[in-house]
Amino acid sequence: MAIIQPYNPQSIKQACTILNGAGIIAFGTETVYGLGGDAGSDKAIASIFQMKARPQFNPLIVHIANLAMLDQLCDYDSKRLNPVLMQCWPGALSLVLPLKSNAKLSKLVTAGLDTVAVRMPNHQGALALMNAFGKPIAAPSANPSGKLSPTCADHVQAGLGEKLDLILDGGACHAGLESTIIDLTDPDSPHLLRLGTHSLKQLQQALGAKITLSHSMKIDDAGDAASPHPTSPHPTSPHPTSPHPTSPGQLLRHYAPSLPLRLDAAAPTSSEAWLGFGADFNANLSPAPYDLSPNQDYVEAAANLFKALHYLDQIEGVSGIAVTKFPKAQNEDQAILRLAILDRLERGSN
Ligand code: TXA
Ligand code: MG
Repeated sequence: MAIIQPYNPQSIKQACTILNGAGIIAFGTETVYGLGGDAGSDKAIASIFQMKARPQFNPLIVHIANLAMLDQLCDYDSKRLNPVLMQCWPGALSLVLPLKSNAKLSKLVTAGLDTVAVRMPNHQGALALMNAFGKPIAAPSANPSGKLSPTCADHVQAGLGEKLDLILDGGACHAGLESTIIDLTDPDSPHLLRLGTHSLKQLQQALGAKITLSHSMKIDDAGDAASPHPTSPHPTSPHPTSPHPTSPGQLLRHYAPSLPLRLDAAAPTSSEAWLGFGADFNANLSPAPYDLSPNQDYVEAAANLFKALHYLDQIEGVSGIAVTKFPKAQNEDQAILRLAILDRLERGSN
């Protein structure tokens, strides 16, 4: 089992020793826990893929502590974009940018793509770790591939603890869903690759450009969408014929609990766990009830989603998890969160 340590100067030093030896650690961020390794080390990155049993074609997100690290990784218009980045980062937002040809980055990180996804996490512990390490850390979510993402140190311990020496405990993840991913290879035509908790409005305003969604997806203020899946490659994709998934949405089964998920349920059967959402939530309907947000707040529901699924998934004797129908949201930011939640649930139910 891994040792779980809070972020402090000693544990960060220990983490850096492991990272410098091409070892792997797990660490808390504001979105989900990451499984981190030296982004410049082939050995470290190969270990991450092996530990997660992750398909090699699925690239990793590189985590940075400052824009100097970004400059060493990406070939981008820093004069135009740095002011935008300073408004959005640190935050739950990963940006796909062109990879610099001389970047000190393992080719395994990007799965051979000529772009790289980068994020500056909004978590003091994670930032302190990266500042101490002094180099970018590549980190997918710290769960076995396809399974539920971890939002606390115990989730990581349960899923990957036997393969790890150290988990840096950053507490419960505030956002609770993986970062929003935007393809910014063309800053005039930003494209959404994965929904998360980050406000699209804020980024659009900062960029002065509209973020495009795949044709199957529509977000309006009332939170209606034809489908939450940003799956199809957009016409201006830099890799339209690439065999690699340039969008994480192409992995259809993901974020999956062991129990079957039944979506849009009016009520649970007598043997089902019940994942509800405030208002008329009735805990007596199920042997295993869980209310994602008594006040019907999608920020709270997003923060609780993986915690709830991890919890319900280990209850014995239930046949599955019935999930309530989520009502329309009241404004665009809540609508985005609602769709991000539906995206995870739909993929988990495939
Ligand atoms: O919140 C997060 O993003 C967390 C924490 C640890 O930061 N990380 C995370 O990583 O969710 P992961 O591996 O579970 O998801 C990363 C996604 C993958 O689905 C991958 O397809 C996409 O990012 N990705 C990485 N590089 C990309 C690229 N160059 N172009 C398009 N998508 C990319
Ligand atoms: Mg993941």
